Amino acid sequence: MKNLISMRDLSKKEILDLMKLAEKIETGKLKPDMSDKLGALIFYEPSTRTQFSFATAMKRLGGQTVTMRGTGSTSVKKGESFADTLQTIAQYTDIIVIRTAVEGSARYASEVVDIPVVNAGDGANQHPTQALLDLYSIVKTQGTLENLTIGVVGDLKFGRTVHSLVQALSDFNPKLYFASPSHLKMPPYILDDLREKNIEFEEIRDIEKIIDKLDLMYVTRIQKERFTDPEDYEKVKGSYIINKNMLKSVKSNFKVLHPLPRVDEIATDVDDTPYAYYFQQAKNGVFMRQAIFTTLLGSAE
Ligand code: CP
Repeated sequence: MKNLISMRDLSKKEILDLMKLAEKIETGKLKPDMSDKLGALIFYEPSTRTQFSFATAMKRLGGQTVTMRGTGSTSVKKGESFADTLQTIAQYTDIIVIRTAVEGSARYASEVVDIPVVNAGDGANQHPTQALLDLYSIVKTQGTLENLTIGVVGDLKFGRTVHSLVQALSDFNPKLYFASPSHLKMPPYILDDLREKNIEFEEIRDIEKIIDKLDLMYVTRIQKERFTDPEDYEKVKGSYIINKNMLKSVKSNFKVLHPLPRVDEIATDVDDTPYAYYFQQAKNGVFMRQAIFTTLLGSAE
């Protein structure tokens, strides 16, 4: 692994190795030393979890970070190109973590710099580090990644986290239920990938009808920022709201995951149930991102 751009680039073995590494780091069996490393966190789009957990991950490994939040105080305002900006930052740092609104920009970044690049979200395309922390959360709650029945709910068209997660899960023989507003279904190229891999999936409207079959429900926000017409967002907002009452018949191992931020798609009365796992999931992001830095910067020995 030189870069981490898309879940499609990772083999099952590479995914499982990252899970093991995250577990060793979380339990203190491995303490990688990044005291000579400096990570660049380049965020053209807003972020709380990804930005803070990457910074936390590097600092807890003894390294340091420098952060660009938006372009307002940079020479992009003077007309400097994306490529020149990246090539410059790569002169100062050991690894680039980048989030932009443009699909394919992280791949492009990896082609113009000669230090490792991590995709922290490129538009509606991919968010592979989120998928990896999601898988780590699944292992921790279910004891396995194999043969799970998972409901994926919300904005499946623009939600980059679900694109990466579904591709990642396809190595582990899941049964998937997709519930979304009709205009926000899973993109055809992802469904084609699943068919090719013989993964069982069903597109449904009513998640309550199958909730008792699920090991996990992965809920996502409607991605307001990706709509070109605000009226289209108004039509679909609030389409799926999971509340405590809906969880009466769930399996004992059932968990609700959400990449966060949440708007209204999980009612706060779910937070105090044993099924809510989204804040622990966010915490797991630090261990997984420590594992990613360790792998890409070659400090796993
Ligand atoms: N899950 C996630 O990507 O959250 P942020 O947008 O806050 O980083």
